[in-house]
Amino acid sequence: MFKIGVLVSGGGSNLGSIIDAIENKELNCSIEAVISDKPGVYALERAEAKGIKTFVVDKKEYKQETSNKILEILKDKVDLIVLAGYLSILNGEVLREFRDRIINIHPSLIPSFSGPGMYGIKVHEAAIKKGVKFSGCTVHYVNEEVDGGEILLQQVVPVNFEDTAKDLQQRILKEEHKLLPRAVKLISEGKVEIKDGKTRIIE
Ligand code: GAR
Repeated sequence: MFKIGVLVSGGGSNLGSIIDAIENKELNCSIEAVISDKPGVYALERAEAKGIKTFVVDKKEYKQETSNKILEILKDKVDLIVLAGYLSILNGEVLREFRDRIINIHPSLIPSFSGPGMYGIKVHEAAIKKGVKFSGCTVHYVNEEVDGGEILLQQVVPVNFEDTAKDLQQRILKEEHKLLPRAVKLISEGKVEIKDGKTRIIE
């Protein structure tokens, strides 16, 4: 069985979408661990309610060692690490050990509104300010460059003149909930090839 570890920082609705896809038998994999970078977040409750093992690797406590602690927990235990609303930056050895085996969901069409400091509602505020007509979400591989790894899946979402950042966030989140389980499914079925900084989906 394909095994994943899921990293979270907040509400965990994207984690919820993976749990739902597994329960609905759309996705054949098991969540071995959910790791949060802060205590008390709702994502941890979601996982515990389903009997999934949870860990808090508090970045306030672990600081520069956060990524190494995550590696210690997940090494040899999972096939893929999924960043599902994880708002810290991974660095160091975990990126080498899990090369091409870490994915992230980002709430814009990368490379727009991405990179250091662009996360959560800030992404949508920037999109609204710029007046883009379309935004969306992206699942991409994770490497040393923030939001810079190979793009796996993207979904376009229209932006209306009257939208607030929150309106856009909600509209995009709905699409994230389809995109992320689909990405995990494609990888778990061996249908993704990475070549020359790009991905090819073999279906
Ligand atoms: C999601 O919109 C996700 O794309 C975003 O945080 C939100 C978490 O929601 N991630 C980033 O901005 C990463 N740069 P969730 O906790 O309900 O899944």
